[in-house]
Amino acid sequence: WSYSVFSGVQDAMTQWWYGHNAVGFFLTAAFLGMMYYFVPKQAGRPVYSYRLSIIHFWALIFLYMWAGPHHLHWTALPDWVSTLGATFSIMLLMPSWGGMINGIMTLSGAWEKLRTDPLIKFMVVALSFYGMSTFEGPMMALQNVNALSHYTDWTIGHVHSGALGWVGMITFGSLYHLIPRLWNTELHSVRLANVHFWLATLGTLFYIVAMWISGILQGLMWRAFDDYGNLVYTFAESVEAMHPFYVMRAFGGVLYLAGMVLLTYNAWKTIANAKAAQPAAARA
Ligand code: HEM
Ligand code: HEM
Repeated sequence: WSYSVFSGVQDAMTQWWYGHNAVGFFLTAAFLGMMYYFVPKQAGRPVYSYRLSIIHFWALIFLYMWAGPHHLHWTALPDWVSTLGATFSIMLLMPSWGGMINGIMTLSGAWEKLRTDPLIKFMVVALSFYGMSTFEGPMMALQNVNALSHYTDWTIGHVHSGALGWVGMITFGSLYHLIPRLWNTELHSVRLANVHFWLATLGTLFYIVAMWISGILQGLMWRAFDDYGNLVYTFAESVEAMHPFYVMRAFGGVLYLAGMVLLTYNAWKTIANAKAAQPAAARA
């Protein structure tokens, strides 16, 4: 059982205060921490701007907390609260992009690694998706755009460009960096890590492109009226129209999952190799 302390829209707003902080802190802050540690380590370069990273951190902490109302546009929420949420969401673009640029610029002087090192590829693509989803988010936070995107798969696409593209990719890059070091050995196969990189990138792209198309299609079908003011499409027709895009998303998901299987295998082999290389005395 759960009883809310508040009722109606106050309850919704309280929940989305926590809800949006979950996006900011469970799906962003910890992974930025990983970015600021592992990108310099792997690139062999210092953080581009330490000062910018401090500004990035405090600006995120301050701004994220006000952005919750963008999840409740066009509800019983007072207009001014909605506008406040949209305004803070637009402001969030600045620290987010500042942080993305800080990560990418850390690689300046080490760009040649992008050709050969799959770990750097994971990290750069993760940063690109971080930049992309934090550009898309503020756009979706505008009331007019949200009137189309809300309740549709566009939101789901946005979620996963963050989740698969940013959170997933920076985690893979960090794991590939960490595992050989923890077991004091080399990664079993750089080639497999490269294949994983392409599976993850393509999987994410299939997922989000499918959701953009189906989301905008849904939004447009639901708001289509004929000359007499009747809805042109039934809800079931919009569900039917989604079918090919769900197949496309499933395909993207299979690619992404296949990549994770490779990561698991590669990690397992790396650890097994390390153990086999140890002298028997050390193992005992
Ligand atoms: C400047 C940064 C961002 C802004 C302003 C922003 C804005 C938004 C907006 C307007 C929505 C749609 C609300 C709706 O119509 O229901 C949304 C949904 C969402 N966003 Fe973002 N976003 C940002 C970054 C991110 C990132 C980086 C991630 C993940 C790593 C993320 C995860 C989510 C999730 C999970 C939802 C869906 C919540 C739900 O309804 O279940 N967002 N965001
Ligand atoms: C191949 C990997 C994945 C696939 C195929 C997948 C698929 C899905 C599907 C089908 C939904 C339901 C969408 C709907 O309600 O219409 C969903 C929701 C969600 N997923 Fe994923 N997912 C994957 C990975 C992840 C990861 C790694 C994260 C987090 C880091 C994540 C976070 C979420 C969130 C927050 C929602 C709720 C979105 C909302 O209701 O607004 N997903 N996912």
